[in-house]
Amino acid sequence: MRNFILGIIIVLLVIVLGGLAVVNFGWFPTRADATPPSWETRIASSALDASMERHAPRIANPVPPTDENLIEGMKIYTMNCAVCHGTLDEKPSPLATSFYPPPPQLILMPPDDPEWHVYYAIRTGVRYSGMPAWSKALSDDDIWKVTAFLTRLEKLPPNVQDYWKKAFGVGPLPAGADHDSMPMKSDKTEPSKKP
Ligand code: HEC
Repeated sequence: MRNFILGIIIVLLVIVLGGLAVVNFGWFPTRADATPPSWETRIASSALDASMERHAPRIANPVPPTDENLIEGMKIYTMNCAVCHGTLDEKPSPLATSFYPPPPQLILMPPDDPEWHVYYAIRTGVRYSGMPAWSKALSDDDIWKVTAFLTRLEKLPPNVQDYWKKAFGVGPLPAGADHDSMPMKSDKTEPSKKP
């Protein structure tokens, strides 16, 4: 029994010392210009989802989704988020593959999470990723407006779609578009060219 416990202690010690060696001898990779392996993405995504499920309060959006508020949300998105998450002319962000983990291209692949989830993600950010906590830069109202916009990308009212078309040349992608074949899915593709 004594030997067994000693064995466990030695194994634990090797793991801890091994971990410290990896970190202190510079073996831990820190480059952001790599594509995360799929197993890592799977584990990290479920950890992120589970944490949001646990921590995010289930609150309804207090800002009504009027045309005016949705257009405001579109402007807030363009000014603060498009640089990482993709512009409204439906091109992937030039930084789409410059982060580790990469920022989801929200215009090309609209989020299907509920508003409370998206609001929480925007307000509190995502630790150890490039996603800032916007509570320190945007008002709560503005965070709700951009949330309203992002969660309705595929069902925006006609006036808001018209505004989008006038301002950016192209309108929102039709609901049910084949988002999975969008160019930003691959890290090598050039930004899509308009026909
Ligand atoms: C500097 C780059 C950057 C900017 C600017 C930025 N984000 Fe992000 N965002 C990221 C990255 C990187 C992730 C991926 C985090 C992850 O997967 O762990 C992310 C993730 C997200 C997610 C998904 C969270 C989830 O639950 O999976 C949402 C929604 C989001 N951002 C919204 C926004 C909004 C809205 C803005 C503007 C107000 C914004 N982001 C600005 C980099 C950015």
